[in-house]
Amino acid sequence: MKRIITLLSLVFLVLGIAGARDKDSYVKITAGPYVTNVTGTSFTVIFTTNMDAVGWVEIAPDDDTHFYNVERETWYDKRGLGRKPIGKTHKITVSGLEPGTTYRYRAMTKGVLEQEHRKSIVYTEGYGTDLKKHPCKVTTRKENYDKLCFSMVNDVHSADSVFRKLYADARNKYDFVCFNGDMLSSVDSEAMIMSDYMKSAAKLFADRTPIHYVRGNHEYRGNDALKLYDYIDTPGGKTYYSFTYGDFFFLFLDGGEDKCMSDVRNLDIMITEDYVKEEAEWLQQQIQSPEFKNAAVRIAFCHMPPQPKGWYGNATVHKYLAQPLDKAGLDLMLCGHIHKFKQFKDEDTGVSFPVVCNANLERMDVTVTKNEIRLEVFNPDGSKIRNLAFPVKRQ
Ligand SMILES: [Fe+2]
Repeated sequence: MKRIITLLSLVFLVLGIAGARDKDSYVKITAGPYVTNVTGTSFTVIFTTNMDAVGWVEIAPDDDTHFYNVERETWYDKRGLGRKPIGKTHKITVSGLEPGTTYRYRAMTKGVLEQEHRKSIVYTEGYGTDLKKHPCKVTTRKENYDKLCFSMVNDVHSADSVFRKLYADARNKYDFVCFNGDMLSSVDSEAMIMSDYMKSAAKLFADRTPIHYVRGNHEYRGNDALKLYDYIDTPGGKTYYSFTYGDFFFLFLDGGEDKCMSDVRNLDIMITEDYVKEEAEWLQQQIQSPEFKNAAVRIAFCHMPPQPKGWYGNATVHKYLAQPLDKAGLDLMLCGHIHKFKQFKDEDTGVSFPVVCNANLERMDVTVTKNEIRLEVFNPDGSKIRNLAFPVKRQ
């Protein structure tokens, strides 16, 4: 009897190991896909896999043909510089598209079980997003907009359950969603970027609605802080950038850390003042650009509000970013950081354009026309708690 039990145990053990090996040999998409840096002619798709893999994207027009009707265009991660990168994070830019056009896309992957230098690579079976359960579509930026609707959230600090409530009804609702900094308290691990908010964003809206990311002071922190930009794509590749939607001009600014560079809590690792100075030079070029000069509406996002008498970070934003924008003419600056709603007085910000902070864990929906910028703020229960508008002075 004892022998039979021992034999059966061995059989179950072997089956268990085989089952586990089997499971590990299947590649899966663990988070995403979501879209970012959606221009008039291109978009970037990001997703992660459970194992090292090659990722790619297939695209099709948004027509009545089956996705499998013909060979579809295939796009790979160009970070491999001529070789398909093998990894768990996949960032694929599709280009050469038509403005204001909707495309279907499919995130695809093939796991890599073994690599033996130049001899062989052993792949798993291929895997892709389910065409029926998860049809992904994205619309390239149009050339003209009479009205633009976007949403902003900030200072989520990894409160994913609240974030999911705020964006439960967000699918196909906005032209873009801006994450205005401090989405987590510290990038302690790369995995947190997906698990703490991006995975939810992808499920709720971002497989179709582009994300614009603004780096907050907390995104400078943590061992994996620099990996954040493997999960975001920006025009120009910096953390500060501009985007135009027709006549509407948007600046996404990086205010750096909130404390002086020598502060002991900066761990002798921050050089954000130099970075913001470099950004200020870029900002001068933006201000001189015909797109900025001719824009009907100009809005800037910056995590920390300008306050010349405030913390180092607020004073830096005022000195290098807000002052030049005040001279050039800005319609509104949208900020976060202080964890409460606030519409500042000019004497606090040292500038004449309106500055509004959105509270943490509240959602600000914004509608822009050539005459007005309207802000509506919602709490996690979906109740509208604020409604205010700023007339656009420049015509
Ligand atoms: Fe902050």
